[in-house]
Amino acid sequence: MSEKKYDLVVIGAGPGGYVASIVAAQKGMKVANIEKRETLGGTCLNVGCIPSKALLHASEQYENNVKNNANLSWGIKTSDVSIDVQQLMKKKSTIVDELTKGINFLFSKNKIDKYVGEATLVNKNEIQINGKGKTEKIFAEKIIIATGSEPSNLNNIKIDEQKIVTSTGALELKSVPKKVIVIGAGVIGLELGTVWRRLGSEVVVIEFLPRVLNGMDSEVSEKFHKILLQQGLKFKLEHSVENTSLIKDKVHVEIKDLKTSKIDTIDADIVLVAVGRRPNTDNLGLDKIGVKVDERGFVETDDNFKTSVENIFAIGDVIKGPMLAHKAEEDGVALVELINKEAGHVDYNLVPNIIYTAPEVASIGKTEDDLKQEEISYKKGVFPFTANSRAKAIGHTEGFVKILSDKETDKILGAHIIGHEAGTIIHELSVAMGFGASSEDVARICHGHPTVNEAIKEAALATFSKAIHS
Ligand code: NAI
Repeated sequence: MSEKKYDLVVIGAGPGGYVASIVAAQKGMKVANIEKRETLGGTCLNVGCIPSKALLHASEQYENNVKNNANLSWGIKTSDVSIDVQQLMKKKSTIVDELTKGINFLFSKNKIDKYVGEATLVNKNEIQINGKGKTEKIFAEKIIIATGSEPSNLNNIKIDEQKIVTSTGALELKSVPKKVIVIGAGVIGLELGTVWRRLGSEVVVIEFLPRVLNGMDSEVSEKFHKILLQQGLKFKLEHSVENTSLIKDKVHVEIKDLKTSKIDTIDADIVLVAVGRRPNTDNLGLDKIGVKVDERGFVETDDNFKTSVENIFAIGDVIKGPMLAHKAEEDGVALVELINKEAGHVDYNLVPNIIYTAPEVASIGKTEDDLKQEEISYKKGVFPFTANSRAKAIGHTEGFVKILSDKETDKILGAHIIGHEAGTIIHELSVAMGFGASSEDVARICHGHPTVNEAIKEAALATFSKAIHS
């Protein structure tokens, strides 16, 4: 059994852990990273953000070519378009493979020691790594827990990743199922539900609450729900899943209407369970060494990512805040800066939230519901993409930009976009909000023409004065 000593050991190589490892190495620390997967990149690169975006991209192209009359109206005629699911999955895996290898390269370049295996904390400075066929112990002055999260499940459901799947299995289906039931109208349910609907499945989404995308601005959620219905997704809102059983090739799903208590059964070829995620903190030995976790398994930290044990820190999905890759990255950078005695900080109010459907949905800062609840007086400016010339020219007129600013000072408090490339153009407002801009500041910036960003300028104009083109 060998023993090695490091300034910093990071447990987990997802976007939080791998970024923290690289930044720490760049700052001159001797760093080791422990990851139980053979490949680096965590959930996001291996079975999350990246493969799902690859499938969203391909399925959108497929749908546009197969049944979208919009293409015909441009004079583009296609015939014999079909989908080869095996090739689609192969391409997706190639993309994932290239990106995870890219992190390997960055680890080597930054001289980070990589350990493959499951980490357990022996004491506050010692970590045991249970790898394939060998156990090692390494020593760390400081430790970062960046072990991420895993899909939550419901008590009465047995996930087999074949017929009853989480997002992981839904990214690996071998053919297009006839019917898919999605449990949960959150981000995963709507993104992956959209992928399989585009490829030809009938998709029914069962949701506990009376709305989709809980936590998003209500006006945005309502509009998005309508768009998804038009696209062919089916919804059973205010329904709970009571039971599932596997009979021959079908999954029988027993659902209960929460308004009438009526029980119904629907059958599907595949059931996707997308009811949230839970932190991965079970097997780290945290209780043994006194690192406190709350009743839901999240590691408790102070505002500087410090746990109840002085030299042990935590970032990303295992602590409070949105469970998003980019939030985890920011946590990682800020923490390493703090360890290096610099000023690291993350403003969780400025973490953008993006749903990569078509149109995309993007949001930053306060929702209108938040402002009402917090009794903050606000102004609101909305501009529809139907009145944006670029959106019109490219046939993407669905949606709007909505900006909310403080009634007194005009400082932007929140921004919400449904529309083509919403997840890209929202960053103009992220930067503006990062610098404390008012809606007038944004409206007075010269925007290129014709761009979809002009809808942001117009929404900003509508917030403090009047839009020109509507
Ligand atoms: P979520 O929290 O977004 O949505 C889960 C939904 O399931 C909620 O609407 C909830 O009311 C519903 N639900 C819970 N129990 C239910 C039940 N028994 N019956 C019916 N509905 C029920 O969780 P999701 O979609 O699983 O995503 C997990 C995490 O991954 C989120 O934090 C999300 O932000 C992140 N993620 C982000 C992506 C992005 O940024 N584009 C993509 C994928 C995931």
